[in-house]
Amino acid sequence: MGAVYDKLETCLKSLREKTQFQPEVAVILGSGLGDYADSITIEQTVNYTDIEGFPVSTVAGHKGRFVFGYVNQVPVVIMQGRVHYYEGYPMTDVVLPTRLMGMMGAKKLILTNAAGGVNYDFHPGDFMLITDHITTAVPSPLIGENIEKFGPRFPDMSQVYSLRMREIIEREADRLGIPLQEGVYAQLTGPAYETPAEIRMCRSWGADAVGMSTACEAMAARHMGMEVCGISCITNLAAGMSKQQLDHKEVQETADRVAVQFKKLVTAIVSNV
Ligand code: HPA
Repeated sequence: MGAVYDKLETCLKSLREKTQFQPEVAVILGSGLGDYADSITIEQTVNYTDIEGFPVSTVAGHKGRFVFGYVNQVPVVIMQGRVHYYEGYPMTDVVLPTRLMGMMGAKKLILTNAAGGVNYDFHPGDFMLITDHITTAVPSPLIGENIEKFGPRFPDMSQVYSLRMREIIEREADRLGIPLQEGVYAQLTGPAYETPAEIRMCRSWGADAVGMSTACEAMAARHMGMEVCGISCITNLAAGMSKQQLDHKEVQETADRVAVQFKKLVTAIVSNV
């Protein structure tokens, strides 16, 4: 089926030699949100470096491992640290872990990220339910030989973020008293933060938040038939929207500040989707 699929099979075989865990739900934790994995009932962890062929993340603050365990009896696999396009990997490697979790049996994917707020109504510390995305600024992870086993050459993307899951998330956020914004996430390559002109472009395209991940993973997951939802933590106003310069420290600090609410929300999502 081609080199991309062969690599996935190599990784799956290597991972299966370490664990037989069968996840129902997969979770990818964004920048500064990785601590969540430490709060679940952990069954087993596998470091990315121990998986043959696996692309290994290099960003400070990103732990590189799969955490297998239970959230209120729901078997989950959590990626504590993701792979980013800006690290230099081809897009097929960036989405390899997502596909791998799908191949392990996860039917549902919960994506999280730290993002810059593009919508003027957003404030640092807000959570945004992702309703749709824009990936036009990054290469598609589906470019290249199609993996027929996963899905069609020309997959539909008219509802990447499951309406069913979105309704559950809105209900759970409401129950927990956690305010939830909603909107469109635009993925750009990074690693530089955007320019003010790029942010104006994103806004005119219809984006509410901007970041360097997630949309490619959502696309790969939808291609293979996983049900997908996503939450952005708005860690800062995007470039040009405040007098402040952007830096990773601010992103981390905001993510830390809302970590307790974030954990509650993710736990409620995993338990109810
Ligand atoms: N831009 C891109 N990615 C980000 C940002 C941003 O402003 N904040 C957190 N991740």
